[in-house]
Amino acid sequence: MEILITDTYEEISKAAARVVAKALNSKPDAVLGLATGSTPLGLYRELIRMHKDEGLDFSQVTTFNLDEYVGLRGDHPQSYHYFMHENLFKHVNIARPNIYIPSGTTDNYEAFCKWYEQRIVECGGIDLQVLGIGGNGHIGFNEPGSSLGSLTRIKTLTKGTRKANARFFKSMRDVPKYAVTMGIGTILKARKVVLLATGESKAQAVVDSLEGPVSSMCPASALQLHRFATYVIDQAAASKLTLDTYEH
Ligand code: F6R
Repeated sequence: MEILITDTYEEISKAAARVVAKALNSKPDAVLGLATGSTPLGLYRELIRMHKDEGLDFSQVTTFNLDEYVGLRGDHPQSYHYFMHENLFKHVNIARPNIYIPSGTTDNYEAFCKWYEQRIVECGGIDLQVLGIGGNGHIGFNEPGSSLGSLTRIKTLTKGTRKANARFFKSMRDVPKYAVTMGIGTILKARKVVLLATGESKAQAVVDSLEGPVSSMCPASALQLHRFATYVIDQAAASKLTLDTYEH
């Protein structure tokens, strides 16, 4: 695994944007796996800047998002559909039919999840998957205990995850209890993975995932099995790491 430790959030965002830009420059019709949440906001801002200032081209790109809350329509301000549109898609030249985000409102989740997996395969598989990490080690909404081979499905969110995300909702009661998420098995099939983490609240999850055992209790630890996984993290998120071989 490649671990890059930076000083600032801006550096994380720029380093991650360079990884994405490299993927698009070498393969203009690349398939990207995308995450939501606070962490990748700087990456998306940098990609928008690169699109505007440097002509980074999204016209042939296809994207698959990791997850969506069950019960939120695409126009709900806290839905991940809305988040992606506001924070990336509406600012770049991506073709709308090439955008895939799990549905939070389908009446047949089983069929939808199967179709989502199939669409990823039909589009050639994910070339580069962007990930954040939960304080409990989740990737996507694969909470602790998730099968390391899991595919897209509905997951129950832990109280801790709902609490962490309550900051975006009026009250805890409004935070959805379930999400549709790509599985850990789905994520592991991506050709390359880049995980971003910032702040002390992620330090335990970062050390557990990198230096702990591969365990479903820390879903991100499954990335130890991936051949091309890169962590781009700041000093605070790296503060519990013990090996001295990481790149600064
Ligand atoms: C979001 C996602 C989650 C987040 C994680 C960290 O699509 O898959 O795993 O990446 O909860 O969220 P932030 O970045 O808000 O700390």
